[in-house]
Amino acid sequence: MSPFKIVVLASGSGTNLQAILDTLHGREGIEVVGVGSDKPGARALDRAVAAAVQTAAFPREEYPDRPARDAAIGDWVESREADLVVLAGYMQLLDSAFVARFRNRIVNIHPALLPSFPGLDAIGHALAAGVETTGVSVHFVDEGVDTGPVIAQRRVPVPRSRNREELEAAVHAVEHQLYPEAIRMIVGGRVRIDADDARAVVIDE
Ligand code: GRF
Repeated sequence: MSPFKIVVLASGSGTNLQAILDTLHGREGIEVVGVGSDKPGARALDRAVAAAVQTAAFPREEYPDRPARDAAIGDWVESREADLVVLAGYMQLLDSAFVARFRNRIVNIHPALLPSFPGLDAIGHALAAGVETTGVSVHFVDEGVDTGPVIAQRRVPVPRSRNREELEAAVHAVEHQLYPEAIRMIVGGRVRIDADDARAVVIDE
């Protein structure tokens, strides 16, 4: 059977990418066939190289505008014959043409229990709001910012200390578990959009 191919887009340190490489890549019929970034110096690209995965950089200044860059990223994703585009700390919005091109084949991980605290600095906003519990969400990507149908969520209690570093560490530890679990469910064909409700995800047992 041909492998299930994943492309990861990441802008930063790539700890979620690393969890995917460590737990899924080359196992269970899953291959990470490319890691792309808007930042040519991103640590995530070094992690890909270390795992002998092809990398590609799409720096903003090399394209006239976002649609042109996203079209180039889309062409590269297709050239890698990817089944799934996994955003792992990709800090750019993808344009609507890219979302339509890979509809329900793009996933993202967000460090909050969506729809709470979408957008940047979700952990900071959760602390500022004084919540006792925050968490992690994996969702399909639609045209909005962190608005796509939710695939999986897990709670993370805010530590009594309300210390940011402590909460970040707890959130990241959960991310590194939940993202591979959610991707595994997708690869297994267990995740689908409800035929009657485009916002609802059904997980088959
Ligand atoms: C994670 O917190 C993820 O939820 C958010 O960006 C961060 C990426 O971290 N979308 P890393 O680069 O995977 O370490």
